[in-house]
Amino acid sequence: MLPGRILLTQAQIRTRVRQLGARITRDYRGKRPLFLGVMNGAVFFLADLLRAVELDCEISCVRLASYTGAESTGQLRGLEAMDDSCKGRHVIIVDDILDTGRTLSALAARLKKLGAADVKICVLLEKKRRHEIPVKADWTGFKIPDEFVVGYGLDYNDRYRGLKQIRVLEKQAV
Ligand code: IMP
Ligand code: MG
Repeated sequence: MLPGRILLTQAQIRTRVRQLGARITRDYRGKRPLFLGVMNGAVFFLADLLRAVELDCEISCVRLASYTGAESTGQLRGLEAMDDSCKGRHVIIVDDILDTGRTLSALAARLKKLGAADVKICVLLEKKRRHEIPVKADWTGFKIPDEFVVGYGLDYNDRYRGLKQIRVLEKQAV
């Protein structure tokens, strides 16, 4: 049984990810950006986006976590393990979703502190709510309602990441 109703179909995601890839390709022509995927949520988005980008680029990942179940704990784990391989680089953070803004603002600040030349943010989803920490994505796939979603990398306690569509997780499905 698949949980919840479909918010975004596989075809919608595929089309939009290709558009984002083309856009980033144009914006970074002649540069060699470092794509930094935020694991585990960005796993499919990062892979699909990079196949839509035509640039000489590098790929890296960082593992960050703040959620337990459907609630943000407010505690971000994983930043301390990062090294300075971003030094002097044009970094493009790739994440699944911009929600409170805590993860991406803390990660961007950390990258700047570690010496990145430039930090930009690409997210597949952005929740239509006021972010607790003001942070702006440079490229956004879809603006979505303030609901808990799963699939295409997004999880609920590590479940449902492998769903092909993005679905709204309704309480009774948990
Ligand atoms: P933020 O720090 O609140 O902006 O949250 C960012 C992280 O929380 C994302 O990278 C996701 O891993 C997780 N997250 C936020 N909203 C959702 C959701 O609706 N479903 C699944 N994960 C979410
Ligand atoms: Mg995440």
